[in-house]
Amino acid sequence: MADERYAFVVVSNRLPVDRVVDEDGTATWNQSPGGLVTALEPVMRDADGAWVGWAGLPDAAVAPFTHDRIRVIPIALSEYEIENYYEGFSNDTIWPLYHDVIAPPTYHRDWWDSYVEVNQRFADAAASVAQDGATVWVQDYQLQLVPKMLRIARPDLLIGFFNHIPFPAYGLFSQLPWRNQIIDGLLGADVVGFQRVSDAGNFSRAARRLLGYATTSPYIEVPASDSSPTRRVVARSFPISIDAAAFEALARTPEVQARALQIREELGNPRVVMLGVDRLDYTKGIGHRLKAFGELLEDGRVQVDDVTLVQIASPSRERVETYKHLRDEIELTVGRINGDFGTTAHQAVKYLHQGFPREEMAALYLAADVMLVTALRDGMNLVAKEYVAARFDEDGVLVLSEFAGAADELITSLRINPHDIDGLKDAIMRAIAMPQPERAERMRAMRAKVRENDVAHWSRDFLHALAHVHDGSGSNSQSDPDSDPDGDPLGDLEWTVERPGKR
Ligand code: G6P
Repeated sequence: MADERYAFVVVSNRLPVDRVVDEDGTATWNQSPGGLVTALEPVMRDADGAWVGWAGLPDAAVAPFTHDRIRVIPIALSEYEIENYYEGFSNDTIWPLYHDVIAPPTYHRDWWDSYVEVNQRFADAAASVAQDGATVWVQDYQLQLVPKMLRIARPDLLIGFFNHIPFPAYGLFSQLPWRNQIIDGLLGADVVGFQRVSDAGNFSRAARRLLGYATTSPYIEVPASDSSPTRRVVARSFPISIDAAAFEALARTPEVQARALQIREELGNPRVVMLGVDRLDYTKGIGHRLKAFGELLEDGRVQVDDVTLVQIASPSRERVETYKHLRDEIELTVGRINGDFGTTAHQAVKYLHQGFPREEMAALYLAADVMLVTALRDGMNLVAKEYVAARFDEDGVLVLSEFAGAADELITSLRINPHDIDGLKDAIMRAIAMPQPERAERMRAMRAKVRENDVAHWSRDFLHALAHVHDGSGSNSQSDPDSDPDGDPLGDLEWTVERPGKR
């Protein structure tokens, strides 16, 4: 690895490939289903790129290799580091804190020490493979210290950072004992990207209040230090997306369409199929969704032989205590609803604690009359965008939490506050009863948005901003995040209220 040098380096906690061990013990690598790799693959190929990340297993010292024309540079994490850096600080401190403390964050000094150490390892690896003046793009909350560490080691680099999850309001962020170090770490980047305008605003405010830096949206002025002269960092939103065309193409295949019909049959051909698809995470509001559905059954507003809810909950972070509790809670609730309202012929909730391949997901989306995205807080929520991309038939109704980043763009969804159970129940009833012309009109508008802002657009936009950060044309000044603390342009609200005469 010593003499490998690349012009474009992506750094993320997980690699774009998963290690799969066959029955005979041979290990191979499969591309992960995530959208990030799809987005960056063309850039990687054109720019002679490398990807630095963790292989997802303890103590796996794997030598760099090439997979599908991407140079993969694995970082080893020990069992201790998985517990302290990954499960601990990343997923039991930052994750709950950045998702508005839906679950209480835990602050442990040992976890922080491990986070610093592992971030340094990622930074060292990236620094050693980046050629002179290379572009390095660091991804997500697990690696917030890497930009500053890289800048100290390699001031010649162009450094970008993108936060895939929300950035919390100052009142919450300020709980973090290491808040100044995090802001300082992120400000090592030339461009710090966020999902929503409000996230960028929260970050700028934190930089101003904690470190006293001057901010004029989208810029943050970082004063000179030992490691660097005065710098002007861009902090703005770049809403991430999916490969919409590829998802639509998949949904259009005869196999997927046949499978969608088969799914409905397997469910006993209910009049209405509702669908939830989430990682089993407390940020997703699965409990709120089940409560609303359970009450609708109880109130007699829906009947079990008429409406079925399919809930896919893919296993996630299963060793973290909060996730274990969540699983117990959700499975208890599902069991109760099915016990109270099911019949020998019909189950109210079809619950699957499993991950599925893309083909099956596309079929589920096509089979679902109503898609329920009820996140209590979510950076973007790509499931909402996948549902829209899959619906080439311009049918289906998306019920979407206003606390998911996707709500800023998908303004013709039925936007809901998941904490308002009565409001959620009414939105579900409205979705079930929505006339076809209104469904089509809303879906068409959302599809245009998802097509236009796909994942290639996202990465192009970010890399363009990064490449032009020093000539001022990369700022692409958006509405001032400070003037719009909720990131919810008022005009958008129009769509959530009934418009007289509109059908
Ligand atoms: C979120 C994060 C990603 C993360 C993914 C899965 O989408 O933004 O960075 O990779 O969840 O979580 P995991 O802990 O399994 O990597």
